[in-house]
Amino acid sequence: MSASVSKIVLITGANQGIGFEIAKSLSSKPGYHVLLGSRNAQRGIDAAKKLQEKGLEVEPIIIDVTSDESLATATKQVTSKFGRLDVLINNAGICLNDEETFSGPALRAAYHDTFAANTFGAALTTEAFVPLLSASPTPRIVFISSTTGSLANDSNFPAFLPIYRSSKSALNMILVHYATKYKAKGWKVNASCPGHCGTNLNKFEGKNTPESGAVNAVRLAMLGEDGETGTFSNSEGTIPW
Ligand SMILES: NC(=O)c1ccc[n+]([C@@H]2O[C@H](COP(=O)([O-])OP(=O)(O)OC[C@H]3O[C@@H](n4cnc5c(N)ncnc54)[C@H](OP(=O)(O)O)[C@@H]3O)[C@@H](O)[C@H]2O)c1
Repeated sequence: MSASVSKIVLITGANQGIGFEIAKSLSSKPGYHVLLGSRNAQRGIDAAKKLQEKGLEVEPIIIDVTSDESLATATKQVTSKFGRLDVLINNAGICLNDEETFSGPALRAAYHDTFAANTFGAALTTEAFVPLLSASPTPRIVFISSTTGSLANDSNFPAFLPIYRSSKSALNMILVHYATKYKAKGWKVNASCPGHCGTNLNKFEGKNTPESGAVNAVRLAMLGEDGETGTFSNSEGTIPW
């Protein structure tokens, strides 16, 4: 790590897709050192290598947001190496694209697995890293949510993806909780919708690039003292809850 590093960033699920693009973009900014989260060790090493080869400040870290053991190991590593975390980006997520076809035990399993990663995973990752974020002079948390989880926007969508969308609606309440809890301490806690980006999550059917999906998250990760908190936005502006 170079001596000029002033911000330590952890991004979950950053070995591919939008998380990888957030890692690329933030590690290109002066002073930012990125911990590229991956639940699979080799995928993390390979992804980090692509950015390290460009001379970027990136190192892989194993983190499975559904595993308490993995969260404990990751927090221990960050504690011993850096003693603080400046930016946490809760990006890891899944979407079972054929979820409408499930019934019976498979439907229960789909709800369980989706909420375990997208909702409980982000909540428990945040909780695990609160002590390290508290050691930062400028804590920032970004939750990667989705406009499709907006209750106010629901009439703009057909009835689809009830599991994925409700996992993101619930995620927004977790964001509001942390934003409110730490507002007086100056933390900036916000949610970003990347837009419909072509990634593995949607079989690369999204019309936008993953690079474009990273833009608003990177902005929120770098907010100054006068930046917003407790908001839900995309690169065009505020999204109604
Ligand atoms: N793409 C879109 O159009 C879109 C729109 C709105 C919101 N989003 C949100 O954007 C975020 C990133 O999605 P993406 O589109 O970039 O999809 P992606 O390319 O499939 O990336 C998802 C990442 O999350 C990781 N992940 C999944 N479960 C995990 C777990 N239990 N622990 C740690 N990491 C885990 C995946 O790891 P593996 O590589 O090991 O599978 C992968 O690195 C998600 O939260 C998604 O809901 C995406």
